[in-house]
Amino acid sequence: MKLCILGFGAVGRGVAKVISMKKEEMKEKYGLDLKITAVTDTSGAAIYDEGLDPNLLLKIKEDTGKISNYPEYGISKISNMEVLHKVDFDCLIEVTPTDIENGEPAKSHILKAFNDKKDVVTSNKGPLALSFRELAESAKENNVQLKYEASVGGAMPILNFAHDTLPSCNIKSIFGILNGTTNYILSRMAKEGSSYEQILKESQEMGIAETNPAQDVEGTDAACKVVILANSIMNRDVTLKDVEIVGISKITQEAISLARNEGYLIKLIGEISEDTLEVSPRLVREGSPFAVDGTLNVATLKTDLAEDVTVVGKGAGSIETASAILSDIISIYKSKE
Ligand SMILES: NC(=O)c1ccc[n+]([C@@H]2O[C@H](COP(=O)([O-])OP(=O)(O)OC[C@H]3O[C@@H](n4cnc5c(N)ncnc54)[C@H](OP(=O)(O)O)[C@@H]3O)[C@@H](O)[C@H]2O)c1
Repeated sequence: MKLCILGFGAVGRGVAKVISMKKEEMKEKYGLDLKITAVTDTSGAAIYDEGLDPNLLLKIKEDTGKISNYPEYGISKISNMEVLHKVDFDCLIEVTPTDIENGEPAKSHILKAFNDKKDVVTSNKGPLALSFRELAESAKENNVQLKYEASVGGAMPILNFAHDTLPSCNIKSIFGILNGTTNYILSRMAKEGSSYEQILKESQEMGIAETNPAQDVEGTDAACKVVILANSIMNRDVTLKDVEIVGISKITQEAISLARNEGYLIKLIGEISEDTLEVSPRLVREGSPFAVDGTLNVATLKTDLAEDVTVVGKGAGSIETASAILSDIISIYKSKE
C-alpha cells in the first residue's frame, strides 16, 4: 500500500516512526506492505515511487527542518496539489494544520484524492468540522474510504469503536472530556490551588498549551470534536456553528475550591444528544469516570442495549496519534482483502 503524507509535523513524523517500527510486523501479521511514496512540508516534498526511507525522512527533517532536502528525491517549492497529481499512491495521509475558518488547504487535498479514487486517512479536524457531509458524500460517490479516528481524542478509541464494536447499539448521547490541554490546566488548578493564568503560562512553557491557546481554552477544539462525533456516530448533519461553546478562561480558583468542598471537579465537557450540542465547564463527581487527570481524554457513550460504555486514552502526542492513523490504514487494507 503506497502512502502520500501531506504535512510532516508531530503527527506526520509520528506516522513515519510507527511505519519504521512496525513495517515487518505489518507484513507478517496482515500481509500489508507499507511504502511512503511522498511526504510534504512547507519547504516542498520528497517523492520516490519505490518508497522513501522513513528513518532518513525523520533524520533530514530533524537535521535541516526541510523535507525537500531529502537526497536525490527532494523537490523544493512544489505545491501539495502538484504532489497529489504527480505521485503514485493508494492512500492520502492528510496531517496538515487544522484551519477552522474554511478547513483549507486540507479540504481541497481530500477532495482531490477522492476524485482520483484514493482513500484518505486524516487527523485534521478542520474539514470534518466544517464540511463533514460534503466529504462523506464525495467519498461515497467515488467509492473510496474516509477514516479519521485520530481527529477525535488522538489515541482514545471512539469512532471506530462505536461503528465496529457497538454496531448493535443505538448511541443515544455522548458526554466527554475531548481536549487534553484544558483538562491538564483544570487538573493542575484543582491539585495545586494556583490561578488559571499561572497554570496556563506554565503549560505554554512546557509545550502543552500553544502560544496562542485560544482554540483550546475557548472550547473551539472540543467543539470541532463534538461536531465530528455528532455527524459520524449519531448521524446528525451539523457544523461548528451549531455548537454552543463556553471555554475555561473565566474559571477561577474560587469556583474550583467551592466545587471540591462539595466533592466535585470542574471539567470542560462536550455533550452530544438529540437536543444538545454543547461544550462548557461542568461539575463532575470526584471518583467518577470523568475525574481523569492531565492530558487524558474520556468519553461515555450512552447506548440503548449496553447502557453506558466509557473509553479513555491519550488525546494527543506524536506516536499516540499516529497509532490511530496506522489502525485506520490497516482497516482500509483489510476491507479490500
Ligand atoms: N499533535 C497531535 O497530537 C494531534 C492530535 C490529533 C490531531 N492533530 C491534528 O493533526 C494535524 C497535524 O498536527 P501536527 O501536530 O502534526 O501539526 P504540526 O506539528 O503543526 O505540523 C504541521 C505540518 O504541516 C506542514 N504544513 C503546514 N502548512 C502546510 C501546507 N499548506 N501544506 C503542506 N504542509 C503544510 C508543516 O510544515 P513545516 O514542518 O515546514 O512547518 C508541518 O510539517 C492537525 O490538523 C492537528 O489538529 C494533532
